[in-house]
Amino acid sequence: TKQHGMRMMTDRYFGTAARIEWINAKPALKEAILRDCSCLTPEIGMNWAAIEPKKGTFEFGSLDGLSAFALQHGLDMHGHTLIWDQTIPAWAKKALSSGEAGWETVASYLAVVVSRYPSVSQWNVVNEPIDTEGTDDGMRRSEIFRAFGADYVGMALETARRHAPHAKLFINEHSLEYANPVDAKRRTVLLRLAEGLLLEGKPLDAVGLQAHLDLGKGPLDIRAIRHMIREVAGMGLEVFITELDVRERDFSLPEAARDMAVADGVKRYLDVVLAEPSVKGIVTWGMSDEGSWLVPETADLVASGIASGSRVLNRGLPYDKNLQQKPMYRAIREAM
Ligand code: XIL
Repeated sequence: TKQHGMRMMTDRYFGTAARIEWINAKPALKEAILRDCSCLTPEIGMNWAAIEPKKGTFEFGSLDGLSAFALQHGLDMHGHTLIWDQTIPAWAKKALSSGEAGWETVASYLAVVVSRYPSVSQWNVVNEPIDTEGTDDGMRRSEIFRAFGADYVGMALETARRHAPHAKLFINEHSLEYANPVDAKRRTVLLRLAEGLLLEGKPLDAVGLQAHLDLGKGPLDIRAIRHMIREVAGMGLEVFITELDVRERDFSLPEAARDMAVADGVKRYLDVVLAEPSVKGIVTWGMSDEGSWLVPETADLVASGIASGSRVLNRGLPYDKNLQQKPMYRAIREAM
């Protein structure tokens, strides 16, 4: 029943990434989503390359299905994602690199997608703009960056705003959690980017922290995470955890011990993050381990003494493959 789920427990919401095919195939997943979630993020469907495989030819695939499901059940939808280096169609990359395509090409795609889903209340306008390795400014060298420079982020926000006057507009980023030089630099670049956009008057409302935790990455930088969130909040922006999950590294332990380690990693992170009132929502990157994009790496399985990894699932989501709640579920519920 609803009281046992995470839906509307506090003024913070819980949500998850999903595909309509998964929901239709698994009644237990659908039940879990309806019990726990107030918001859904398309796990894969909102992908420019898939939506506009040829210039001007649009295929919405299963995205309409997920959007209809959300509307039918009164769930919000978090649009993920409009611009992402990894999903620019080949034709657009080519046209942008040759100079044949201008901003119009990007803008007309944004116009079509954003206006098709007026019920989306939050848009990840730019996903993963940061890449600190091999760049001075920390900005990822996508074809869109190369064509328009760092200004593309602000241009995308303005274009999105024209078609979504009331939605919250986000930039969304990963690898901001741990005590190491790369994550530290990424935190600095994120703050500089957000600040620059606001100084230029761009319509940015929120920052999404993906929060793909990794049990092999050493300790969280608690002070730095807190500082980053407070700085973002100080700019008047909201903060959301947009893709929480946990990558395991030691698969040799019994499942119960692995599940405790995952839950402990989540608790440590959420204890810091959810102490900040600017953090308004938390979304996991899937409900059940079966649908996780994280698969154990061969090296990790070898290190754990497991020869063949074909059947081993990463257990970094709140439910196991049979939709049984794990300690991670309780860790989130208690932290909220
Ligand atoms: C992943 C999906 O889960 C996979 O199914 C897909 O093949 C690749 O993308 N950061 C993001 C998400 O912003 O879009 C990614 O999702 C995970 C990392």
